[in-house]
Amino acid sequence: MNDKIEEQKEQLKPLVSEAIKSLRGECTVAGDKSISHRALMLGSQVLGTTKIHGLLEGEDVLRTADALTSLGVPIKREADGTWLVTGVGVGGLSESENVLDMGNSGTSTRLLMGLVTPYNFTSFFTGDESLRKRPMARVIEPLSQIGAKFTSRDKGRLPVALTGTNNPLPITYRLPVASAQVKSAILLAGLNTQGITTVIEKEPTRDHTENMLGYFGFNIKKQHLEDSSLSISVTGQPEQKLGQYKIFVPADPSSAAFLIVATIICPDSELLIKNVCINPLRTGLFTSLIEMGANIEFINKREIAGELVADIAVKHSKLMAIKVPANRAPSMIDEYPILAVAAAFAEGESVMHGLSELRVKESDRLSAIIAALTACGVTARAEGDDLYVKGGTTPPQGGAIVTTNFDHRIAMAFLVMGMACKKPVTVDDVTAIATSFPNFTELFNSLGAKIRSPRLASSSSNTRPLVVTIDGPAASGKGTLARRLAEHLNLEYLDTGSLYRAVGMKIIYAGKDPNDHAAAIEAAKSIDIEDLANPRLRQERIGQAASIVSAFPEVRSALLEFQRKFATSGRGAVLDGRDIGTVVCPDADFKFYITATLFARAKRRHKELQGQGIEVVFESVLADLRERDERDEQRAIAPMRPADDAYIIDSSKLDASEVFQTAQNVIMHD
Ligand code: DC
Repeated sequence: MNDKIEEQKEQLKPLVSEAIKSLRGECTVAGDKSISHRALMLGSQVLGTTKIHGLLEGEDVLRTADALTSLGVPIKREADGTWLVTGVGVGGLSESENVLDMGNSGTSTRLLMGLVTPYNFTSFFTGDESLRKRPMARVIEPLSQIGAKFTSRDKGRLPVALTGTNNPLPITYRLPVASAQVKSAILLAGLNTQGITTVIEKEPTRDHTENMLGYFGFNIKKQHLEDSSLSISVTGQPEQKLGQYKIFVPADPSSAAFLIVATIICPDSELLIKNVCINPLRTGLFTSLIEMGANIEFINKREIAGELVADIAVKHSKLMAIKVPANRAPSMIDEYPILAVAAAFAEGESVMHGLSELRVKESDRLSAIIAALTACGVTARAEGDDLYVKGGTTPPQGGAIVTTNFDHRIAMAFLVMGMACKKPVTVDDVTAIATSFPNFTELFNSLGAKIRSPRLASSSSNTRPLVVTIDGPAASGKGTLARRLAEHLNLEYLDTGSLYRAVGMKIIYAGKDPNDHAAAIEAAKSIDIEDLANPRLRQERIGQAASIVSAFPEVRSALLEFQRKFATSGRGAVLDGRDIGTVVCPDADFKFYITATLFARAKRRHKELQGQGIEVVFESVLADLRERDERDEQRAIAPMRPADDAYIIDSSKLDASEVFQTAQNVIMHD
């Protein structure tokens, strides 16, 4: 058991977020998940093609695409990232030959159960361990009334076999619990059911299905009833004409929320977030922030595929505490963690009412919010289902380690909090962020945030500068990686090979032999930084000479001091070479060893030389590299080899960006 906990701890990926000067720029965030699912499903129900731009390519949405494909709908992803659905029309689905595995996606499961109900075939649904625990009874009930037959485990849990009917009944169904998924499942079943299918909801729930049905030209009617509930009807089996449709999936407002609050609480900040879905059933957070005094403007408002969309301009603002009414909770249920963070920066005590739902989310979110705020020095408490947060005009203390319990929204909210606290905030694990906002860290850092791995953060606040070493054979790609890392981490860069090359060059241009021991030592002693800019250093014969002189111990020791000074005296550095991790900087913060097969490196070098207009035969490049490898590996002093604690990257099959990404991941998360 203890081993298991230790193992889990080892897999945690903590990040630290430090106070920043400002957050500025223009950006967008990934597409909305609810709308992405519906674009695929409804695209399958028209006659003609639907081109989808900005689909959220997360695991859940991909499950919907796979299931629809199994049900006979041609779906493909184009090279430019758009998705093309060739609709089969209402009534056009066919039986899947295999089980429909819905992974972790409750939305895919419930909506697709509705879609296949009015068909005379059987579909088998299953999902991952967590989805198999979730109740399906709430959809099984109305879909059974329409005519589907279900065989399931206890209490309607997956796996479920659903046998549809070709005599579906149009029903009128009053939702016993507010659920957009149940409503959508019934409306989708209604599409292929002759007559009018109606759902009545007492509480408003997300209306993306209705909006998109309207966009695709289906006959959908909404009507407010006397008891203030809403009736939504769809006319089944419509006549369909061939059409061509385009959907731009707008950015997810729940993801945009983190950028918006970060901009509000960080001084001197200003951001434009493009194409955000501002469906009123999703934007309770924006309403609340505006009530608090936030400077948020909706620009270029427009309707896209039935949804209201705008660019959001937001500026740093002074906030006042507010009371958030319970009836706003459905339109911002995912946004309370980040609203609680905003409240910590607002003058006075904020109250958020009616948060019982938050206790049964991915984690007990209410307790998690209170614990994290308290750890950051903010007074917060729950009374019944209400959350109280005391804010102030000076920034909170911060300096806490926040426990996320794998909850992505807690992780993101408190990374945002760290950007404006006095001391950095650490969140214990960020792996879950990928489920909804895969490029969170990169995007925030590109706008001015300082989110880093704890190791990086601690060395940057120490007096000791950060040192990264990159060793490896010639043409392995180490130089390219070193330059990119140096730029990305704002560190100095030293190509130590150029030191040995400079020694080789001095000897060759003095008309001497690189094997001349005494001449090499003398040259090594006279090297200074000016010598390293000479373009002749890159010549192949100079590389060969460098390899020879570098085997002399006195040459190495003459250059050692220069390299060590370079590494430690400035703002920190990336150094590449052969012995940097082993001899020059054995205490470096991060060590990499980049390698690749001799053949792959020779091909690279050959192409590079051709690109420079130098004609050489491939075989001689290969022989040259082999000779240098042998000499560098076999010399008695400081032979080329990975340090015991180096991270080894084989770049044979990776391009420069992939190598950079790998190294970047190690640095962020190691
Ligand atoms: O990386 P490069 O091809 O520019 O290096 C030229 C030569 O210098 C290489 O063959 C070995 C030597 N070298 C070394 O011995 N130690 C280093 N740290 C860097 C380079």
